[in-house]
Amino acid sequence: MRMRNLYRKPTTLRCNAGSRCYSASAVIWSLLGCLLLFHLYSNIHHKHGEGREVQLRASNHPQFRELQQVEEEIIQLPPQKGKRSPRAAKRRHKRVTPLVDEFLDEDSRLRHVFFPGNNSAIDPVKVTGNDSYYYYPGRIWLDTDRNPIQAHGGGILYDERSNTYFWYGEYKDGLTYRAHKRGAARVDIIGVGCYSSKDLWTWKNEGIVLAAEEMNGTHDLYKSNVLERPKVIFNDKTRKYVMWMHIDDVNYTKAAVGIAISDTPDGPFEYLGSQRPHGYESRDMTVFKDEDGVAYLIYSSEENNVLHIGPMTEDYLNLMPVMRRVFVGQRREAPAVFKHQGTYYMITSGCTGWAPNEALAHAAESILGPWETLGNPCVGGNKMFRIATFLAQSTFVLPLPGFSGSFIFMADRWNPSDLRDSRYVWLPLIVEGPTHHSSEYISRLPLWSRVSIYWHRKWRLPQGWSTFK
Ligand code: DGJ
Repeated sequence: MRMRNLYRKPTTLRCNAGSRCYSASAVIWSLLGCLLLFHLYSNIHHKHGEGREVQLRASNHPQFRELQQVEEEIIQLPPQKGKRSPRAAKRRHKRVTPLVDEFLDEDSRLRHVFFPGNNSAIDPVKVTGNDSYYYYPGRIWLDTDRNPIQAHGGGILYDERSNTYFWYGEYKDGLTYRAHKRGAARVDIIGVGCYSSKDLWTWKNEGIVLAAEEMNGTHDLYKSNVLERPKVIFNDKTRKYVMWMHIDDVNYTKAAVGIAISDTPDGPFEYLGSQRPHGYESRDMTVFKDEDGVAYLIYSSEENNVLHIGPMTEDYLNLMPVMRRVFVGQRREAPAVFKHQGTYYMITSGCTGWAPNEALAHAAESILGPWETLGNPCVGGNKMFRIATFLAQSTFVLPLPGFSGSFIFMADRWNPSDLRDSRYVWLPLIVEGPTHHSSEYISRLPLWSRVSIYWHRKWRLPQGWSTFK
């Protein structure tokens, strides 16, 4: 590669004069460095064919600058206890960080830090004045009936017909138990919870829009099965709201997707059935509706080793016989897809059950790939917090209308010992940097924009954000 050759060149210089040789090569190195920098600079500042100037910082909204401040977080871990449960010891062998180890310890002295109690709950009905509209990642979040919001592994639909946001997710307000000694912690299916909001902060409970089946043990939605990560999109042609979700049995061996439809965003949804997409296993999944109306299913497959992506049929009720395998052998799950200025982005997590792990951001010019991994998008906090995605796992990325390049990253801070008490970690996600396409390489390196998820203990959307739509 050109860059490597540049760096190799000086080693081939013959030099006899000791230190003079060093200064000669230093001059050559500097010259080469300057040339390279000039090359980079002129590439960044050249105009696109279409006359669009490449921007170094894509996020031009002064309202968001404050949210792009790097906020540190010090979490003082207590000294390691002499004796930990066998399960904790096993986790240590799996090389979880001390922070994750502490987080997973039900008896941790930091429990109140990871899962703050009722007295600090976000209560949009009660809170007025200065604290209005503030998100506090990890705190209990109450709906307008003052009950904790139950919309885990969820996603948001903006309904243009009613100018309302609908948040759908797993309603997990039941007992956490293990079906088998070695099985994952679980809550029986209750259904898909739905909440509506105009401001993305005050949420009204619209009820369970797809309920568990109580009697028929052969039904996909029978309570002892699994329903996870429901996502809803609107089909402009059929005028139906279409829900896709992960459907499984108690041992996660069914590995399928379920589909349901409704005439209204607040349900009820009619369950149509499940399938193994393209004939393959499907566990964590999401859907993405593109600007041209084509929708895609993105799912972890092949024992979670590979992510599959494929377009849906026009009515969104099935899949086309087209599928691409991406991140082969990389074991990614919890996909959340979004788009900015023609580029597709995805956030994924690793596969560690309910335990947090490191998020990765990915980018592609076509949703079907090839996808390239950009790295860990988390900014701020501290290193251990960042490599644990702020103790949460991705579920959805919501674009903020009127603020191109600004999104809300939605994640779940799972509480494996009491899943109903899992928390929401919402943070600003900003796409910033050159808005290049990879055809415009700098020294053959594609210039993707940077995807950053900024940690904040408390934050709010810029005032009047909704009027920018
Ligand atoms: C990780 C997934 O992301 C969750 O949705 C859930 O399936 C858990 N695994 C179950 O252990």
